[in-house]
Amino acid sequence: MLNDTSFAIHPQNSEKIGNTSYQDIGELLEFKKTERGYRFQCTGGYVYILFYRPDIVRIVMNPNQIPELDDSRAVVGKQQLTEVSEVRENDLTLNSEKLQLRISRKPFRIQILDQQGTPLLMETSRGMGFKKTGEVIGYKVMHEDDHYYGFGEKTGFLDKRGEKYEMWNTDVYAPHNPETDPLYQSIPYFMTLRNGRAHGLFFDNTYKTVFDLKSEPDYFSFMAEGGQLDYYMFAGPSPKDVVEQYTYLTGRMPVPPKWALGYHQSRYSYETEQEVREVAGAFLEKKIPLDVIYFDIHYMNGYRVFTFDHERFPDPERLIADLKKAGIRVVPIVDPGVKKDPEYPIYQEGIQGDHFCKYLEGNLYTGDVWPGESAFPDFTDEKVRKWWGEKHAFYRELGVEGIWNDMNEPAVFNETKTMDTSVMHRNDGKPATHRALHNIYGFMMGKATYEGMKEGLQGKRPFLLTRAGFAGIQRYAAVWTGDNRSFWEHLQMSLPMVMNLGLSGVAFAGTDVGGFAHDSNGELLTRWMQAGAFTPYFRNHSAIGTRRQEPWAFGEEYEAIMKKYIELRYQWLPQLYNLFRQAHQTGVPVMRPLLMEYPDDPKTYRLHDQFMIGDNVIVAPIMSPGVTDRAVYLPEGEWADYFSGDMYEGNKVHLIHAELDQLPVFIKRGTIIAHGSMKQSTMEKDKQMTFHVYAHHQGNYQYTFYDDDGETFDYEKGKFLEIHVSMNCTKEKVELELKTVQNEYHPLYKTIQVVIHHLDEGQKIEVNGKSIARQQNQAVISVPVERS
Ligand code: GLC
Repeated sequence: MLNDTSFAIHPQNSEKIGNTSYQDIGELLEFKKTERGYRFQCTGGYVYILFYRPDIVRIVMNPNQIPELDDSRAVVGKQQLTEVSEVRENDLTLNSEKLQLRISRKPFRIQILDQQGTPLLMETSRGMGFKKTGEVIGYKVMHEDDHYYGFGEKTGFLDKRGEKYEMWNTDVYAPHNPETDPLYQSIPYFMTLRNGRAHGLFFDNTYKTVFDLKSEPDYFSFMAEGGQLDYYMFAGPSPKDVVEQYTYLTGRMPVPPKWALGYHQSRYSYETEQEVREVAGAFLEKKIPLDVIYFDIHYMNGYRVFTFDHERFPDPERLIADLKKAGIRVVPIVDPGVKKDPEYPIYQEGIQGDHFCKYLEGNLYTGDVWPGESAFPDFTDEKVRKWWGEKHAFYRELGVEGIWNDMNEPAVFNETKTMDTSVMHRNDGKPATHRALHNIYGFMMGKATYEGMKEGLQGKRPFLLTRAGFAGIQRYAAVWTGDNRSFWEHLQMSLPMVMNLGLSGVAFAGTDVGGFAHDSNGELLTRWMQAGAFTPYFRNHSAIGTRRQEPWAFGEEYEAIMKKYIELRYQWLPQLYNLFRQAHQTGVPVMRPLLMEYPDDPKTYRLHDQFMIGDNVIVAPIMSPGVTDRAVYLPEGEWADYFSGDMYEGNKVHLIHAELDQLPVFIKRGTIIAHGSMKQSTMEKDKQMTFHVYAHHQGNYQYTFYDDDGETFDYEKGKFLEIHVSMNCTKEKVELELKTVQNEYHPLYKTIQVVIHHLDEGQKIEVNGKSIARQQNQAVISVPVERS
């Protein structure tokens, strides 16, 4: 390809300097208050300003016509009636309770400040602009203290200042390194953190977009190849507020089924029924917990989706039923490409029902993927989504509750790596080209699949894993970061990638543990499993032709360690489940960069090699070969080593020793975590529930414990258990109050075992008003679950 040669640095390819070829939005001619907001007519086009909430404002520029306000696929949050007061002087000022927009006339510029007058998003000599060829662009001032996060799934470090990113869903197999961009997901959103205060920006545009935080020292820009300059600004002021605001708009994930949070084993591919049974059997025999085995493309007949190769898999129904009895579920891969084969019923139906993508002229688009020449369902059309969703009865009837969507960028084996951009999508009655809708193809496939599965499962929660997506994908699917490699660098890269996905609304994310391409090794896999045990999505997957990487693949010494960490994952499941529920309610991710909890601590701003689980746990994996010591930064407070109980002072970097079987995990004193019972899979319900209380001598902590049946949507009807714990620590006393506020779900455990660790000398303990005796620096008590 030309871009792989010196042509890539041909002088003609360099960008035009400055914005000479862009036209500015110009001067304000007139404006009008409408039912939904304010509409401005400028010399260069139209602008709309709409408040969605006091802390969310939307700005839309269209150079050619009055902006279109209602064609977003990403946005589900309603525009709330928001009180806005206006001041008309030379400039126009619009005030909500949280934001202040100062709009100047000549040129037309919008300054967004908070109500304290702190500038947030500012325009100076440059503002909004466009090219006659259809591109739209926005420039904003880049403050010297700004740090940037989010952008969905991007390689590189945590802080994205100085980067330039493109959003164009792309199947990238090789190369794959820190500068590889774009990848499979497009989430045109980011968060700015400046001196402890955060705000966010979501650019709702499905064309190819570019975010440039690199080319100029005091501006960043965001541009799209077409469409409108349609963006939302989130007022923050904390990083958590920004994620809450962004996910108010783009939606949050449903509470996942518990089994989806267990350990998953995959391989491209377990090629036969025999092989699948052997792998499952080994997990059971070795007593290594397991919840899911994946069926990669070899299960199909010639890679035809919704079929089985009956030579390799003679009786899938029995196989799936046998596995399920053992607590192991099957998740099959489903790609969008439908083999062009006149004798294949899905292809026949697709043609007869007019479900496939076509050119404007009416001819079918086909491209090469695994099955050879294939047609692609037009998921932008409701009728097609329904058809595709219903087709999943094929899997459901075999007992399948989870689906893996891959190659849905869509990936096509050609020079451009994707579908012809001139294909015309139906787009639910508003036809548009693939160029305009490319970035939501995978998202719409996810919607079709999730909704189809949900409907068919009649009250049970489906699980969907996807490679491609757009802003809002969290409503339908978990995301894995695609084809990484078995390199230590990829383990290192996985942390900031998953953290930034979390900041971008995708709380349920993970990487191929052990690395997909290339050969893994015992040490790498072990260290990766340790980190993976604490990432929201935990799947070991590897490519055809590489070394096998099941937990036992590199000998007993490694196997024993990996088993220990998979078991640990299961013990921690109740804690993780609480955090997933929190993400469902607020959007705040399970796995967090430290800056999310400590936005006032500049030492956290670029910290990419350690992460938090919730608000009180720090995990700092070892991510280099032969290394058994690493620096760990612990922010303010006091921290207990989860395994040894050793205490560490916060606001400090510590050198932590961790042999191959050790993972540095720290729990903040003055907080609580929940642990369940050990199990082979989530099919076994928790018989015991323990709250580990890390006592301290100062401070308050509120802890919410949540549990439900883990598999139905009954939680939406209030069928869950919720216990609120409040803790108050002083030098003299640790006071705990446990209050069951909802007990419509009745677990097997009837009491909570409360274990209070690390009591200071002489500290008394009181639980629900009763004094508890201590033994040395610990105390244990059982508290009934049911509300009396
Ligand atoms: C793609 C996927 C990978 C899968 C393979 C075969 O490369 O990213 O996970 O195993 O296709 O289906």
